[in-house]
Order: sequence, then C-alpha cells, then structure tokens
Amino acid sequence: MAAAALTRVAVLTSGGDAPGMNAAVRAVVRVGLARGFEIFGVRHGFSGLIDGQLEPLGVRDVGGIIDRGGTMLGTTRCSQLKTEAGQRAAVTQLRRRDVSRLVVIGGNGSQAGALALARQGLEVIGLASTIDNDLPGLDTTIGATTALDTAIEAIDRLRVTASSHERAFLVEVMGRDSGHLALVAGVAGGAEAIVLPEGDTDAEAVAAQLRAAYQRGKSHAIVVVAEGARYNADALGGYFREHQARLGFELRVTRLGHIQRGGAPGVFDRIIATELGAAAIDHLSAGRHGIVLGIAGGQVTSLDLSAVADSKKRLDMRLLELAQILTR
Ligand code: F6P
Repeated sequence: MAAAALTRVAVLTSGGDAPGMNAAVRAVVRVGLARGFEIFGVRHGFSGLIDGQLEPLGVRDVGGIIDRGGTMLGTTRCSQLKTEAGQRAAVTQLRRRDVSRLVVIGGNGSQAGALALARQGLEVIGLASTIDNDLPGLDTTIGATTALDTAIEAIDRLRVTASSHERAFLVEVMGRDSGHLALVAGVAGGAEAIVLPEGDTDAEAVAAQLRAAYQRGKSHAIVVVAEGARYNADALGGYFREHQARLGFELRVTRLGHIQRGGAPGVFDRIIATELGAAAIDHLSAGRHGIVLGIAGGQVTSLDLSAVADSKKRLDMRLLELAQILTR
C-alpha cells in the first residue's frame, strides 16, 4: 500500500473550460504512465473529487482528444472546496486510493483550491489554464490564444458588415473582471475604441471616439468591451439606445459569451498544454510541488501556488496607449 501511494497521481480540470485542457490531460496521463506513475482522472473538477469520482486512466483513454475543445474530464465551479470540511473530504477521497499527488488544470480560482489542498498535505501542481489570461507572473495560459482567435474571427466578420452599412458595432468579450482578452482582441481586431475594467472610459468618451472615427473618413466602427467593464454590453448598449437621437448613430451589440470558450484548440494551445502537462510530471518526479506551471518569456515557468492563487495580473497599459494611436 505504501509503495502505491508514492506512484499515484490524480488529474482534474476546474473552473471555466478552456481549449487545450484536453491536451494537458493527455500529456499528464501519457507522460505520467511513461514515467511509471499510475494516473487517476477526476470527473467534474473539485466537486467530483469530493464525491470520489476517480478512475484510472490508460493511454487509450486519452486518445483522440488533442483536437477537442472543452475537457473530457468535465469541470465545475465548486464552492464546497472553500470550506475546511470540503478540503478534508477531497483529501480523504485521494488518500483512500493511495493518491498523494494531484495536478489541477484551471485558472486562478482553481489554483486557490489547489493551494488549499496543498496546505492539507497533498503534493499539488497547478497548470495555468483559463481563457482570461489573468494569472500574475505569466505571459499566457492554456486556452487564451484560441479564445482570442475566436474573438478576432468574430470581430473581422463584424467589420465587414459594419463597413457595408457604415454602422458601429459593439463586441463584448469575456474575461470576468480582467481586461486582457478585450485589450488584445481590440488591438488585434483594429478596434476604434476599447473599454476595459481597468480603464475609466465612459459612454460619452466612446461616442466621441466613434464620431471622430467617422469624421476621419472611416466607414465602420468597432468597439470592443470587456464583460467586466463598467460600460459593458448592457450598460453601453443601453446608453446608446437611450441617447440615440442626440448621439446621431446607433451601436449594434454582439456578445460573444461562451462561444469563446468552445472550439478546437489552436496549435499554440495544444503545444503549451502538452509541455505543461509533461512538465507537471517531471516536477512531481523530482519531488517539486506547491507550484503553478505556466508560460512566461516563451518558457515553461514555475511560480509558487500562493503567488498565483486568487491573484490577478496587471494589464499592459502600454498596449492600451498603442491602441489609441493605432486606431487613427
Ligand atoms: O474564467 C473564464 C470565464 O469564461 C470568464 O471569462 C467568465 O466571466 C466566466 O468564466 C463565466 O463563467 P460561467 O461559464 O461559469 O458562467
């Protein structure tokens, strides 16, 4: 029994799904098996862990998933894990199966859960995976690039019809309370205005930016807003509807919502998910844990779980300034 406890690793996905999670699960399973570990998949994130939904995974169980969005393991948002009782139940389920090591694939809320379990004595490694790309100390997370590609495709299509009709369109992207997705989508999509939770742009400022764009001879206008901004789709769309007569033009609203989370992972997300999954096994083999692995400076980078859990990375304000120049 004691020998088995040293070689068993569980893997789960948690929080919002992100394209590339499956590639990460596949790498953990196949590299783990190749290094002599037994791997258990946990269904439905931390909720499934608390309920004991674990099963051994073999190489064929993760076949045909590298190209699939979502997560074959299922995922949940689990408030129970925030309680001491929930954490103890999760640890008990693992110990009952002689599992002492856990890989948690998810964003900053999920890494807070990972940290709680590490503090309960488990050997935990987090893999940074969220479309929000808001983990401090990391350049990117599994899923963010694919989500951005999805947002850009939508923005490009909207610009075509906006040009034909000389209309203004608002596109709301996800990101919770962070503006990373909106900022990058706005710059890469050539938006006329970008509205972020981190900024203080109000509705009249957006109207002025759009008017100026028309005066400069533009035939279209795209406003990218973050869902967490004060003037998100509801607020800004509502303001423009209410003041349409005075402002002189309408703003058509498109909310991308969960469309950004689905879809096949792109090459970049498949590769970083694969590298991070493999690195998780390497770190566990070397006895390192209590860390989150993500990508910074083009490299797999390890950060303390406590530095990442429930924290947010700061926005690159230089990119916002650049966006304001580039839109001219
Ligand atoms: O964290 C990923 C994310 O997609 C956020 O951008 C968004 O605010 C949230 O999840 C939506 O969560 P749910 O799917 O639980 O409504």
